[in-house]
Amino acid sequence: MLFGANLILLWIPFLAALDGNVCPTRCDCTALPSTNIKTNCSHRDLTSVPVFPDTTEELYLHNNHLTSIPPGAFDNLLSLAKLDLSQNPLHCDCNIRFLTKWLEIVGLDSGAKCVTPPDLNGTSVGDLGVTQTVSCSPPVRPCSHFLVTDVFLFIFLFSLLFLMIWCLRTLRTIRFKIKVNDVEVNLNHGRSLVIGSIKRRFQVSGRS
Ligand SMILES: *[C@@H]1O[C@H](CO)[C@@H](O)[C@H](O)[C@H]1NC(C)=O
Ligand SMILES: *[C@@H]1O[C@H](CO)[C@@H](O)[C@H](O)[C@H]1NC(C)=O
Repeated sequence: MLFGANLILLWIPFLAALDGNVCPTRCDCTALPSTNIKTNCSHRDLTSVPVFPDTTEELYLHNNHLTSIPPGAFDNLLSLAKLDLSQNPLHCDCNIRFLTKWLEIVGLDSGAKCVTPPDLNGTSVGDLGVTQTVSCSPPVRPCSHFLVTDVFLFIFLFSLLFLMIWCLRTLRTIRFKIKVNDVEVNLNHGRSLVIGSIKRRFQVSGRS
């Protein structure tokens, strides 16, 4: 009856319902006394995380080749009470943050440990705090860092602007002096006609 109803509905819920009830090909699913399922995927050479039955209560994923856990991989497992993720070569970059958070929320000790990058080798995924550097490009800049660097940047830019205005203001005086020198140079050469015109120009620009 339930499957019949699902068939009439859209394809996506149908496939989701099917995925949520089927044991992954490389795993063993056995019924527990609680009527929930024990899904055993340990020692199966898994390189990616399959979709598990919705009613999985115990999930064994240890001793595989999982380097990452996709966000939301266990979201359909509302009865999950036991999870073993140990002995997987997990790469702890920013994508692992979801797992740290999720483990904290559900309160499970999965035994998941980082293997790469080298500086995090052996660190428990559950212990990766906000202070731990889990990097991805582009790196996430903390807010306090933003404020400090940007305040300095603004101070620097304002100083630069002030310096530019000061330079432009003094530039007039500098031009003034050069013109005076021109007059002197020309005086030394004794070209009285040229001096006369320069002197006139100097007077005009000197007033402005
Ligand atoms: C899971 O499967 C492995 C391999 O078949 C077996 O050795 C192990 O005992 C099983 N673990 C559990 C908890 O059922
Ligand atoms: C991680 O550390 C273990 C020992 O704690 C070592 O055997 C392993 O080679 C290290 N892996 C990497 C990728 O550094």
